[in-house]
Amino acid sequence: MEDAIGTVIEKREVVKGFFLLKFHLITPFSEVIPGQFVMVKVPSKEVFLRRPFSIYEYENGILGILFKVVGKGTKLLSAVEEGEVLSILGPLGRGFSLDSKGRPVIVAGGIGIAGVHLLAKKLGEGVSLFFGCANIAEKALVSDMVHLRPSISTLDGSFGFSGNVVEMLKNYIEEQTSYDLKIYACGPEGMIRAIKDLLIHDRTPCEVLIEERMACGMGLCYGCVKKTYDVREPFKRVCKEGPVFDLWQISL
Ligand SMILES: Cc1cc2nc3c(=O)[nH]c(=O)nc-3n(C[C@H](O)[C@H](O)[C@H](O)COP(=O)(O)OP(=O)(O)OC[C@H]3O[C@@H](n4cnc5c(N)ncnc54)[C@H](O)[C@@H]3O)c2cc1C
Ligand code: FES
Repeated sequence: MEDAIGTVIEKREVVKGFFLLKFHLITPFSEVIPGQFVMVKVPSKEVFLRRPFSIYEYENGILGILFKVVGKGTKLLSAVEEGEVLSILGPLGRGFSLDSKGRPVIVAGGIGIAGVHLLAKKLGEGVSLFFGCANIAEKALVSDMVHLRPSISTLDGSFGFSGNVVEMLKNYIEEQTSYDLKIYACGPEGMIRAIKDLLIHDRTPCEVLIEERMACGMGLCYGCVKKTYDVREPFKRVCKEGPVFDLWQISL
């Protein structure tokens, strides 16, 4: 884990309210596992705590994060200019396991795509990608993944499957003849709960990236704990033992 200095080399509003920021890191990260995250210092005295963001992309010292503006910190980050220098702590947390058996299926809801983007790139063409978003405009969030032929759902029915991403996943699972799937998911808590309900009958292997409010991001403050079914140590820190958890170990 490095406390790196990153120079903003690109800022792009991919869709209204969703920004891609690319940094050149002066000290490159040694290794990045999909699902890991960084803590970014917002360049303002108004926001004290760093904000966590998934590593959306990383290559040769160039780090990308994709974020949705939801509050003060993300609003300020969306206003940074190319050439600005920010402090970035990372890579942090436990990422997805890449060596598991099973046909990989990625499920992302809205900005949850940021948490699985690197994983999708790593898994490549053998992966089935399900992306749920609000409307046709937001399908731009997967425009660099068309080669994976993502299945897209929109809540307003303006593109692809009309409804939510878990309903679309349900149809896909019902069509499968064998149950050798391995699901990777990132999205709002409601989506994760619905996936759990869908998969509970077969307890299909599934890893989920959980988002929780964070203070230190390094396992020191215990401000991000989640209850799990581990009887010996039920409370796990999302920033340290997560943010990726086995769906069947976490209490939702
Ligand atoms: C491991 C991890 C990875 C993340 N990756 C991304 C990412 O790649 N892209 C992205 O857009 N966001 C990501 N998030 C969420 C992101 O950290 C928050 O949206 C951000 O911190 C909000 O800061 P703010 O100051 O703009 O909002 P605040 O003013 O602090 O809050 C605005 C609203 O957002 C909610 N919120 C704030 N923080 C979180 C959080 N951590 N989880 C859920 N809801 C929150 C608050 O409850 C409130 O309703 C991630 C969070 C975690 C823990
Ligand atoms: S944010 Fe401090 S322990 Fe997780």
